Amino acid sequence: MQSVKLAPSILSADFARLGEQVATAVNAGAEYIHVDVMDGHFVPNITIGPLIVAALRPLARETGAILDVHLMIEKPDRYLADFAKAGADILTVHVETCPHLHRTIQAIRELGVRPGVTLNPATPLVTLEEILPDVDLVLIMSVNPGFGGQSYIPGSTAKIRRLRHMLDAIGSTADLEVDGGVKPGNAAEIAAAGANVLVAGSAIFGGRSITDNIAAFRGALG
Ligand code: DX5
Ligand code: ZN
Repeated sequence: MQSVKLAPSILSADFARLGEQVATAVNAGAEYIHVDVMDGHFVPNITIGPLIVAALRPLARETGAILDVHLMIEKPDRYLADFAKAGADILTVHVETCPHLHRTIQAIRELGVRPGVTLNPATPLVTLEEILPDVDLVLIMSVNPGFGGQSYIPGSTAKIRRLRHMLDAIGSTADLEVDGGVKPGNAAEIAAAGANVLVAGSAIFGGRSITDNIAAFRGALG
């Protein structure tokens, strides 16, 4: 099993204490900061935009944390430059929102940002086949996007395993990230299936202390 990175989703953080909570997560060893951007159209919820990415940039640059931006918005091409300027290190788009996915991925790379691609739970992996060689990250949604705190869809593990085979078959070193319902209790299963970046919102920013929550993930991952 390769070393697994943690990507706390700030969606479940206390936004009145955002900087402090993200700093705690990064100081406890989280490598990525996962930013969930929702537009109330592609997904039912509305969240945040480039301003929050820009606000977190100094912390990310000081600590080396990666600003991992997950765009759950229609017509994402309109906002790529804004997020790049705000400091996104990774920009991940949904295949369901990109009729010209190859063009979108190239546009992200031309902005100097690492391109990622993701797909909803019911969207088959075959939709990624042609774009896999061009991306630096593939995100498997293990819940229907829109809200934190949902339960992991069990069939996601088999999908992760199949994607791991697809990436290995083309010699890709892209991150395989998983998002939704990830907890210390299922982290080992997800990593064993081939994921190397785990997003967790409620399991990191909810319940006990952020530091203890991250330690629980590290314990589970061995
Ligand atoms: C869901 C978001 C996730 C979400 C994960 O649409 O993409 O990143 O915040 O939250 P948890 O870990 O609570 O399922
Ligand atoms: Zn996300």
